[in-house]
Amino acid sequence: MNSTTMLSLSAALAVVLGQAVSPALADEQAHAAIAGQVTSSTDGAMEGVVVTAHQDGSIVSVSVVSDAKGHYAFPENRLPPGHYTLKIRAAGYDLSAPAATNVVGEQTSNVDLKLEPTKDLPNQLTDAEWMMSIPGTDDQKAALLNCTSCHTLERIVLSTHNVDEWTHVVQRMMGYGAVSQPVKPQPMLDRARAGTPEQYRKLAEYLATINLSAVDKWTYPLKTLPRATGDSTRVIVTEYSLPRPTIEPHDIVRDKDGNIWYSDFGEMFVSKFDPKTLKLTEYPIKDFKPDAPVGLLSLAFDKEGLLWFDTMYQGSLGTIDPKTGATKYYPLPAKWNDNRVQLNFVGLRHDVDNKVWTKDVGTGYIYRLDLATGDWQRFHPTDLLPDAAHHHYGIYQVISDAQNNLWLAEFSEGYLGKIDAKTLQVTWYTPPTAHARLRRMEMRPDGDIVVTEYRGNKVAVFDPKTEKFTEYSLPPYTYPYRANFDKNGDIWASTMSTDRVVRLNPQTGQTDQYPMPSDTNMRTVYVDNSTNPVSFWVGSNHDHAIVHVEPLD
Ligand code: HEC
Repeated sequence: MNSTTMLSLSAALAVVLGQAVSPALADEQAHAAIAGQVTSSTDGAMEGVVVTAHQDGSIVSVSVVSDAKGHYAFPENRLPPGHYTLKIRAAGYDLSAPAATNVVGEQTSNVDLKLEPTKDLPNQLTDAEWMMSIPGTDDQKAALLNCTSCHTLERIVLSTHNVDEWTHVVQRMMGYGAVSQPVKPQPMLDRARAGTPEQYRKLAEYLATINLSAVDKWTYPLKTLPRATGDSTRVIVTEYSLPRPTIEPHDIVRDKDGNIWYSDFGEMFVSKFDPKTLKLTEYPIKDFKPDAPVGLLSLAFDKEGLLWFDTMYQGSLGTIDPKTGATKYYPLPAKWNDNRVQLNFVGLRHDVDNKVWTKDVGTGYIYRLDLATGDWQRFHPTDLLPDAAHHHYGIYQVISDAQNNLWLAEFSEGYLGKIDAKTLQVTWYTPPTAHARLRRMEMRPDGDIVVTEYRGNKVAVFDPKTEKFTEYSLPPYTYPYRANFDKNGDIWASTMSTDRVVRLNPQTGQTDQYPMPSDTNMRTVYVDNSTNPVSFWVGSNHDHAIVHVEPLD
């Protein structure tokens, strides 16, 4: 059966089942604007090559992936008439000659793409591929999971620092606010948080074995992940470029009108992007501490439709009314608002008891603000964890449940905690996987808590009724940042490592990994249940873009 008959069959099946044909599937059946074959002299027809079309002067790039026969096609309604440049992504390969074409209405431009082995493989590897390639124990490699949030591992392996130099370089890194990236280093006010060079000696010794301090060329072979195959190639990816390299779209939510709202991790803005008109509206957020790092992390709607955000090192929570753009601020009281403060995440079930929760990375305090009285309370729940006096525990996300109890994801080891809203009793639970390092959470309608195991490379679902964890393994080296369920029960996960969006069916264990066209340091997971099939929005945190991933099935 050729792919055209297969497609019409699946479309017929969709009609029989009484479903509307999805926009993405309808696109695929439509006339192609640009289509062709991807081949290389070494491999013949190539599957899983990401082909990107970019119209001159546009902020939009559209990508498709070649199928098992090496065929790729851009649906006509995705590429308005104009002049397009084509690029490809397939680790180990480059285009043998530049490719460009004109799209003219109603006609298919045929562009066959010839690939040749790349002369610059290091420049093409993802963090996952560096992790696969470098020597070292699991513990040694795991330390690098603390480097990939601000930049890729490439600059580490390409460097020539010896052990002593590394101790100082790492200390300098640990003094940067999490909102930093190389185009905008942002030193923290709290200098003590960087520690001393000497405390990084063990890591420094390891780093000097994987870089070019002692050798001209790496002694280890560079490995690449297999390219996408089968269902993972059936996707359209649209990248919307944002105007400044210092914009870091962190958390993303879509409103009912289809606008994409994001928190800017590198600047003081909450922004609204309309993918239909391509209009970007940036709402300025107040600076509270002129010398502290700038940028916001979390963004979420409360029950009344207000957007809540944190301001990290600026030490305040805030709301923005999406209809008017009006903002309101809730700064931490001055007595606690010192240089160490890094507020992030808001527990948002104040419809229950008028209280919002948040937490401070710098001190490990959990705060609760009474919106009626303006009073703040604080708690230090990690004191109850094993050997708390000697262990530097850290909490990543906090989230409220339906009773406005607070759930806590512990990031250095991986405990899951709860603070009871009424009794203030603290309970810690231990997931089955050791050193899981819990990161982002989702509260399910039934009260189950979904949490990513960053180092554990799994998604865990915790049932508070039975106090049991169920864990789902992700593809090797995914190191998930965040994961959410969609309306069909599939789990979607973001990664800062593989440049592939993961979609996992927990019933069958089937995993698709949609390959991204470019370096996509993902933080958020916005599952768009309004589309059929479900689609996925994510920010490219280091590449100032908003990315829409639309599977064809
Ligand atoms: C909080 C953000 C952040 C983290 C985390 C981070 N870096 Fe960096 N890194 C930066 C910034 C900003 C620059 C560019 C400015 C500079 O070099 O100081 C940089 C540059 C570098 C460079 C190139 C400059 C040089 O001196 O060689 C290396 C190598 C490097 N980082 C290594 C690391 C390692 C190793 C880790 C993990 C242990 C790490 N970084 C973690 C922010 C970070």
